[in-house]
Order: sequence, then structure tokens, then C-alpha cells
Amino acid sequence: MSDKVLAQLYALEWLPVSSPLLSPPISDWLMEEDSMTKRFERHCGEVTVTLIREGFVTAETVATEAALLPESPRYWLREILLCGDGVPWLVGRTVVPESTLNGPEALLQSLGTRPLGRYLFASSSLTRDFIEPGRIDALWGRRSRLRLSGKPLLLTELFLPPSPLYGKGA
Ligand code: PHB
Repeated sequence: MSDKVLAQLYALEWLPVSSPLLSPPISDWLMEEDSMTKRFERHCGEVTVTLIREGFVTAETVATEAALLPESPRYWLREILLCGDGVPWLVGRTVVPESTLNGPEALLQSLGTRPLGRYLFASSSLTRDFIEPGRIDALWGRRSRLRLSGKPLLLTELFLPPSPLYGKGA
């Protein structure tokens, strides 16, 4: 399961925000500025995280993301499935340069099954450089460069077929 959806996430093709392929309801999901965890909670009883992997990797392992981040000897990599009532709705991949992991941001290394969004959106120092929509086959995704106290990280998300993004009106 996770190998296949991660391969799809890696293969996302990036589109401009103005792309005519983006219908208003899809755009509304992809450009969501608040926590996706919170948004999913409106569509199910419980949102949970299944951890795929978490740990330090070299730049080659995260080459696509590293191109959009400061150069670093190591990057923290987190890959998860975000589930609505136990069904995987989203696969998420977060890449954090080691230089971001000082001060309170060191906590990014001990999230485990706690959703990243709860941590990010609780922080008053969160800013966003961009959100870029993406597509692979019939699936939608996005990537965002976020900053905590000015220090960057890159989050890529792919919405899986059971996700409410593909629901009525989308
Ligand atoms: C995560 O916990 O890594 C996470 C949670 C929600 C998302 C993306 C990533 O939308």
C-alpha cells in the first residue's frame, strides 16, 4: 500500500495555481491554508496517522525537495498515511533540513503518530512561502514550503481516492 502511493506522490506533476484543470471545489481543497487534519475531521469521526518512516536521510534521498530547501548534510524525512476512520485518505511526506531542527523545532523529530498539522498550526511562528497544486493520473496533490520561525520545511501531500476531496461536487 504505502510503496505504491509513495511512488505516485513522487510522480506528481506540478501545475500553476491558475491551471484550468483545477475546478473550484478541488482548488478549495488544495489551497486550504489551515490544517488538513482539521478539515478531514469534518468528514469522519477520527483522523489518525500511520507512520511509514521517520529518520535522517542524505540529500540524494530527498533530491526533489532538497532543491527547494537550503543545502544540508542531512534532512529529517517523515512519511505518513493520514486516515479517516481507519481508511487512508492522504499520504504525506515532510522534508526538514537539519538546520531547521534547533530550538522548539527539534520537536519535529518526535511527532510519531501525532499529526504534523497539530504541531504546525499551533505555532504562532508558522508562515508559508507557496502552495503548488499537483496531479498524477486522476489524483490530486500539493506541495507547500512552510517556515517555523523563518526556518523552512517542505510538505508534499497526495490525496488518495477515498479522500473527501473527491466527494460530491468535486
Ligand atoms: C503528518 O503528520 O506528517 C501530516 C499530517 C497531515 C497532513 C500531512 C502530514 O496533511
